[in-house]
Amino acid sequence: MRIFENLEAFLQKLSVEAKQMDLKSEIIPEKLPKHIAIIMDGNGRWAKQHGKPRVFGHRNGVKAVRETTEAAAELGVSYLTLYAFSTENWSRPKVEVGALMRLLVETLHKEINTLNKNNIRLQAIGDISLLPEATHRALLKGIENTKDNTRMTLVLALNYSGKWDIAQATRKLADQVKEGVISPADINEDLLAQSLSTHAIPDPELLIRTSGERRISNFLLWQLAYSELYFSPVFWPDFRKEQFYQAIIDFQRRERRFGKISEQLV
Ligand code: FPP
Repeated sequence: MRIFENLEAFLQKLSVEAKQMDLKSEIIPEKLPKHIAIIMDGNGRWAKQHGKPRVFGHRNGVKAVRETTEAAAELGVSYLTLYAFSTENWSRPKVEVGALMRLLVETLHKEINTLNKNNIRLQAIGDISLLPEATHRALLKGIENTKDNTRMTLVLALNYSGKWDIAQATRKLADQVKEGVISPADINEDLLAQSLSTHAIPDPELLIRTSGERRISNFLLWQLAYSELYFSPVFWPDFRKEQFYQAIIDFQRRERRFGKISEQLV
C-alpha cells in the first residue's frame, strides 16, 4: 500500500513540475516585469480551512515566500516586493502580531544564507524603527549582510502603508522648504517620488494579490498608478511557481497604454 501511496505522490510531483515547465516556457523574457509587488493574503483563511490557528497559515506562508522568491530570481525579475506587515496589522490580536514578529526573526535568520548563495539583496520599506527590537535587529542584519548582492532585490514592506509613505515624503519636502533648500514651486511628481521610501526602486509593473480579494489595501498607492493588477483566487500558503508564472503570462498578454491609444504604441 505504502509503495502505491509513494508512487502516487511521486507522479503527482512530476505532473506539477511538468505543468510548471510548460508555463515557464510561455513567459517572454523580453517582456518580463522588472518589479513585481505582492499582497500575500489568505493565510488566516487557509489555516481555518485546515482547522488550525491563524499562525499555522503564516508559517506555511513562508514556503510560498521562498518559492516565489526563487521563481522571480530564476526568471530574472529585478525587484520583488512583499507586503509582509501593514501599518493596520498592529490592530490584530496581540498573540498573532507577536507570532508574526517572531516568525520574521526566525525566517530572516534561516534564509540569509540562501539569499547570499543566490546573490539576492534584502531591503525593507516602512517605518521599521517601530518594529520590536529583535525583529528590527534581524532585519538590519539581513540588509547589511546581503547589501552587495546584485541578482535581485527582495523588498519587505514592514510596518508599511502607502498613506504613511506619501505623508513621510511630504514631511521631508516641507522640511527642505523650511530650511530653504527648495521652494514650494520646485515640488513636482519627480521630487515627491524621490522622497518616497521606494526612491531607489522602479515602480512595479505588476501587482499580484492572492486569496480572491480585489483591493490595494493601502499598499504602494503612489507607485501603483500604472501597474497591472492580477488577482489570484489561491490563498497565499498555496501560492507556488505555477500561480506566479500564470500571473506573469496574464500580464504579458495585456496592452499597457499609459493613457495613449493602441495605434500610438507601435
Ligand atoms: C495576510 O494573510 C498575511 C500577512 C498579514 C502576513 C504575511 C506574512 C508571512 C507570509 C510570513 C512571513 C513573511 C516573510 C516575508 C518572511 P491574512 O492573515 O490577512 O489572511 P486572512 O485574510 O485569510 O485572514
